[in-house]
Amino acid sequence: MTERLEDIAVKMVADGKGILAADESTSTIKKRFDSINLESTETSRRDYREMLFRSDEAMKNYISGVILYEETLFQKAADGSQLADIIKAAGSLPGIKVDTGAKPMAAFPGETITEGLDGLRERLASYYKAGARFAKWRGVIAIDGASALPTFGSIKANSQALARYAALCQEAGIVPIVEPEVLMDGQPGSHSIDKCAEVTEFVLRTVFNDLYDARVKLEGMILKPNMVIDGKNARKASVEEVAEKTVRVLKATVPSAVPGIAFLSGGQSSEEATAHLSAMNANYDLPWGLTYSYGRALQEDALKAWGGKPENVAAGQRAFTHRAQMNSLAAKGSWKKELEKAA
Ligand code: 13P
Repeated sequence: MTERLEDIAVKMVADGKGILAADESTSTIKKRFDSINLESTETSRRDYREMLFRSDEAMKNYISGVILYEETLFQKAADGSQLADIIKAAGSLPGIKVDTGAKPMAAFPGETITEGLDGLRERLASYYKAGARFAKWRGVIAIDGASALPTFGSIKANSQALARYAALCQEAGIVPIVEPEVLMDGQPGSHSIDKCAEVTEFVLRTVFNDLYDARVKLEGMILKPNMVIDGKNARKASVEEVAEKTVRVLKATVPSAVPGIAFLSGGQSSEEATAHLSAMNANYDLPWGLTYSYGRALQEDALKAWGGKPENVAAGQRAFTHRAQMNSLAAKGSWKKELEKAA
């Protein structure tokens, strides 16, 4: 193997860069396109993603890697070149979502188990051949302030699946992004920030124990966690409180051998996601790179500005580039609200 896992992982969290999560499944991207009244077809999905990947300034300066859905990894751009090659030409790394989704977990009402381990070894070999150098698997942890969720059974099952996945990735020369998401926008969304801190801490402890048992090399992985924040219907924590509680939980659970942590945005507004990341990098001394792996918070403005119209490609790219630049500043702890106005 020519590239070392450690080197790929370090590149993914290079200073001032982060990851674009563009790996929406066919059903999720349909929901996003519904919001701009655009039909989701193979071609419209291609056009949208090609617009993002051809945003040269953003891709070269602010995006270290792009998480793709399988369709996109093997898809061609309008001019016949591979979309993955456009990403590589910008100096960014193509990555691949390899789980097959969070499915209702038998005997655990309200909770899910993420599937996709069967045949994964063979799929990883074909993804590597197609240029993917990192992968993503998302385990979903429901949280409810009023009931017993999450249960230990669901946390443990998801954590073990994440560890099995990570070991298979490393065997294939692919850096695993390990994503245990304590849902930030789930229902009823009334839990407090302290409940989120308690659950996130327990989940991350469990995940790192299972990664250790599975002999996963921490130097060759990236963690993709939720931020510690109150439920979406009970938001009141300040930016400083979110930063302080998130950093405390991460320091208590994530070994410093892990090269980087790249957050999901989880339904926060684009600006909130940027402000929280910037506060963490500005105010704390951290042993790992701390950056973004946002889906919605990097794409929402671009999707709206594009609106599915070829004449709006430049406007879509401008919106994407602005958001990527704001998050790049946040990854260095130097984002300021006033900079938003320059958009
Ligand atoms: P959001 O940033 O929209 O939460 O998506 C990131 C992601 O990849 C979730 O798996």
